[in-house]
Amino acid sequence: MRIHLSRPDITEKEIEAVCAVLRSPNLSLGPKLVEFEEAFAKYIGTKRAVAVNSGTSGLFLCMLALGIGPGDEVITTPFTFISSATCIMMVGARPVFVDIDPATLNIDAEKIESKITDKTKAILPVEVFGNPAGIDKVCEIAQKHNLLVIEDSCEALGSALNGKKVGTFGSMSVFAFYPNKQITTGEGGMILTDDDDLADMCVSLRNQGRGKGSGWLGHERLGYNFRLSDINCALGIVQLSRIEQILAKRRQVAKWYQQMLAEDGRLIVPAEPADCDMSWFVFVVRLAEKFTLEQRDRILEEMKGRDIQVSNYFPPVHLQPFMVERFGYSKGDFPITESVCKNTIALPFYNNLTKNEVVIVCKTLKENLDKISPAV
Ligand SMILES: Cc1ncc(COP(=O)(O)O)c(C=O)c1O
Repeated sequence: MRIHLSRPDITEKEIEAVCAVLRSPNLSLGPKLVEFEEAFAKYIGTKRAVAVNSGTSGLFLCMLALGIGPGDEVITTPFTFISSATCIMMVGARPVFVDIDPATLNIDAEKIESKITDKTKAILPVEVFGNPAGIDKVCEIAQKHNLLVIEDSCEALGSALNGKKVGTFGSMSVFAFYPNKQITTGEGGMILTDDDDLADMCVSLRNQGRGKGSGWLGHERLGYNFRLSDINCALGIVQLSRIEQILAKRRQVAKWYQQMLAEDGRLIVPAEPADCDMSWFVFVVRLAEKFTLEQRDRILEEMKGRDIQVSNYFPPVHLQPFMVERFGYSKGDFPITESVCKNTIALPFYNNLTKNEVVIVCKTLKENLDKISPAV
């Protein structure tokens, strides 16, 4: 029996909603787009929401709308999915990395100020794996230095810090809806902001630079086709309407893992930090510091060989070949990120994972750990 790394949670309601759009005349730029954007803005608590075809396009449009470009620097984390850095490079600006806090795996706010220069325009923090810890401190530093905050909330739909929802901290924020996310539209993303001008700019940029009154063949600026179809939006509307149920299911799966693994001294098991509501994007355990990269990789291979899908979320962004080539980074530049990256194991994690499957995953993981370092 294969246990997948992630799986979408699609009910008959989603299927019916998608079929209803297919029977309608509006497959794109129709009523479902408006409905999805309005429901999403209401859920997060921002004035505006602009749907796009991926989280990456959303981040890229934020950079453009905020006027970030060549000569500018944007501070971000090297422990994230690649788009958090590439969206900065797509507009010709330079990503400046700051190492992470080993407890939260998010950018270490204490280390940000030393990286601020007169070229710094913005900070792009990420709520890694759905953990919002420290986002408030990042915003305080940004405010002190008059910097913009673009919140990469792609992994954190439904998370909150002291009751304040993720996605409301930055001047602009972005969520993503790839099928491994808390909710999915197949592919998709959402930009959020309270600023009408920024939202209107994103609406134009996602739709070939068309203006409000310019018609289908009038183009006010260089734009893109980053539209999200009504088919995707219909799926997103139903998924969003189930968000509380979805988050509860994820919380339950996380709890099973914690109950079965937390006592094992060979592992660092994620827990919900104080003051945080975590929406659990993935469940990533870390091997204790004494384990090597080779040992971690062997465990990944052994588990895959037993039909349990696992992954190494994330390799360090600054050590990706094209980043090394472009910016000359080398091993040791961000030691905390590198030491965390060498020991992570993302375990199977999704809404409908059963307790029995979690038992099998944990048993197999422990058996493989025993081969290297028996439990004491
Ligand atoms: C932190 C982060 N940023 C950006 C993205 C990009 O989203 P997408 O894959 O929809 O382009 C992801 C997606 O995995 C992500 O995890």
